[in-house]
Amino acid sequence: MKQLLIYCRPGFEKEAAAEIQDRAGQMGCPGFARAKDDSGYVVYECFQPEDGDLLARKLPFRELIFARQMLVVWAELADLPLDDRISPLLDAAEGMPLCGDIRVETADTNDGKELSRFCRKFTVPARQALRGKGVLTRAEARNRPTLHLFFTANNRVMLGYSYSYNQSPFHMGIPRLRFPADAPSRSSLKLEEAFHVFIPREEWDTRLTSGLRGVDLGAAPGGWTYQLVARGMMVAAIDNGPMAQSLMDTGQVKHYREDGFKWRPSRKNVYWLVCDMVDKPARVVALMADWLLEEDCQEAIFNLKLPMKKRYAEAVYNLQQLQEKLDQLGGFQIQAKQLYHDREEITVHVCQPRKVAKLEAKA
Ligand SMILES: C[S@@+](CC[C@H](N)C(=O)[O-])C[C@H]1O[C@@H](n2cnc3c(N)ncnc32)[C@H](O)[C@@H]1O
Repeated sequence: MKQLLIYCRPGFEKEAAAEIQDRAGQMGCPGFARAKDDSGYVVYECFQPEDGDLLARKLPFRELIFARQMLVVWAELADLPLDDRISPLLDAAEGMPLCGDIRVETADTNDGKELSRFCRKFTVPARQALRGKGVLTRAEARNRPTLHLFFTANNRVMLGYSYSYNQSPFHMGIPRLRFPADAPSRSSLKLEEAFHVFIPREEWDTRLTSGLRGVDLGAAPGGWTYQLVARGMMVAAIDNGPMAQSLMDTGQVKHYREDGFKWRPSRKNVYWLVCDMVDKPARVVALMADWLLEEDCQEAIFNLKLPMKKRYAEAVYNLQQLQEKLDQLGGFQIQAKQLYHDREEITVHVCQPRKVAKLEAKA
């Protein structure tokens, strides 16, 4: 198992490749990344045979910015006969770790879209055959590795597995979210996706709930504010632009037509800070660090727009700057991801586990 397969946003293969190369190198698993532009995936070829599995277990998936999914490649099959893809797959699966679930997937590209119908149809017969062969457990077992079939053409597939405790729980690494009909903008889904990715579901009732106050910097027309309001929060929305009337009518939103880089709450009673202002990443990072260090908020989610070039280096640099600033006080946890709904940007989440635990204990 020398290969690690990473799914990413098409167009960000170089970033995903640079990241896995860096992180695997730091873990003492040298190798090189193979990436084709706009393919939506990257293969990291380890020099040592066991390093693919080691990385899948030990490299924390949550720390990868550009990876949507990470799995060990067990076998790569080309020229599958179209009238019987299953038999060669069963042969190739011989000796694999016992898996508890299967995902039949493809890249998030136009070619991939054409394949996704086939992937859906192929799931049931593949599951049955792999269960019969003893590669999959009889009933779904979420604590066991997940088996992935990643089709790059209708006759070409990578067979692999990811560890249930170190993977994205979503098919193709993409949470499927329905756009709420009454949300004022599509970017509403970005914040909802961030909640799914960064906040454990079992903590939503304490961390994303009424009784908490939120501030939305760069709020108009209100897609992000909508997400906070929908969870019962009172929100201060800062933007010179107009907010959707439907949100103002809830009585939960106070709109301040002010500069988001200058506005501050008069009391230290804000839990959530969210920020979608389009500006230089360094400026946004400095602002977020100030809010957190001065305890003007307890937890934050914000976007960092990436430049056209050196996007990986810029992301890493800004996250390091944020870490250094927050280290003045300590106790913060930073996570960053390029979400499905992010284009030329990444989304960052900062919390203080000690304070989250306190909130949980109070609930
Ligand atoms: C990408 S839009 C935000 C969309 C919003 N999150 C939503 O879901 O509807 C960026 C917003 O930031 C606002 N903005 C940019 N610079 C700002 C500043 N210095 N102060 C306040 N708002 C600012 C813009 O007016 C714009 O409405």
